[in-house]
Amino acid sequence: MITLCETRDVEDGTPISVHPEGFPPLAIYNIKGEYFVTDNLCTHGMANLSEGYQDEDEIECPFHGGAFSIKTGEALSPPCHTPIKTYDVSIVDGKVCIPPPSS
Ligand code: FES
Repeated sequence: MITLCETRDVEDGTPISVHPEGFPPLAIYNIKGEYFVTDNLCTHGMANLSEGYQDEDEIECPFHGGAFSIKTGEALSPPCHTPIKTYDVSIVDGKVCIPPPSS
């Protein structure tokens, strides 16, 4: 498993960004004590979703108002149509972890 951060580093509603080796930049979210990880780059342009606006399980891009489901990656509103990648999260000893990059 790859450790991304401590759970206490991510407040409910305030995503953070990390860039572990072998991965694209990632965004980590806390939704009422559950943790989720997606790619951080919007599929519409060069915006970091971690700088957007989290509304429970939706993240709104800071650039053009597109939005994605944090849980599934589904694009929820235009101009975003392509989903963002999501990752399987495990919490190990209070740390947010994902599987190693697939080769
Ligand atoms: S860059 Fe995200 S909606 Fe345009």
